[in-house]
Amino acid sequence: MTTIAIVYHSGYGHTAVVAEAVAEGVTRAGATPKLLKIENAGQDFAAFIEEVTKADAVIFGAPTYMGDISAPLKAFFEASAGTWMKQGWKDKIAAGFTNGLTFAGDKNHALTSIFILAMQHGMIWVGSGQALGNVNGNTSAAPEAVNRMGYSIGVVTQSDNAGPDVTPPSGDRESARQLGERVAKVAAKFAA
Ligand SMILES: Cc1cc2nc3c(=O)[nH]c(=O)nc-3n(C[C@H](O)[C@H](O)[C@H](O)COP(=O)(O)O)c2cc1C
Repeated sequence: MTTIAIVYHSGYGHTAVVAEAVAEGVTRAGATPKLLKIENAGQDFAAFIEEVTKADAVIFGAPTYMGDISAPLKAFFEASAGTWMKQGWKDKIAAGFTNGLTFAGDKNHALTSIFILAMQHGMIWVGSGQALGNVNGNTSAAPEAVNRMGYSIGVVTQSDNAGPDVTPPSGDRESARQLGERVAKVAAKFAA
């Protein structure tokens, strides 16, 4: 069985919703998601690092805070330096997502931070694989459009200043599901 680790932080629950949608996509592809929620930057990451090492692929996610990934995911990345020394995650499939309040919000920088971590580890990056937002054949940034913000290196979602029960919208959640599904399918092919 293909296992996909989803390592994420969420301060206020919005990125958690996105992570859960990614997990649904993994399940949709017939693989097993392993949701690993980082609570704070000071926690012991040994068990999470072990889970990532065992998984066929890993998807990292964090909210964009001050134009970059939130500090708890960064702390996890720094804790992975020992694994980097051993090249323990080399050739593992990796992907990423971030969520922010604004449409731009320097979220590209947060996603790039995740990408660089994956490249440092010698991992194999899987992008969103999603065309521009589209509703009924027309390019669209409507809330129901998948990839309404037009990102390719990963999935970027946007949540309003409201509860995670209502935001991010349906298109963003489906975008996240499709990322999980894609990574799971690539990981299964790679394992074969
Ligand atoms: C300290 C802090 C910094 C933030 N910086 C940004 C930012 O640079 N760009 C952005 O689009 N949103 C920014 N936001 C908004 C969050 O990304 C947004 O509220 C997101 O939904 C939070 O996700 P979470 O509920 O998973 O913590 C920031 C929020 C906080 C608390």
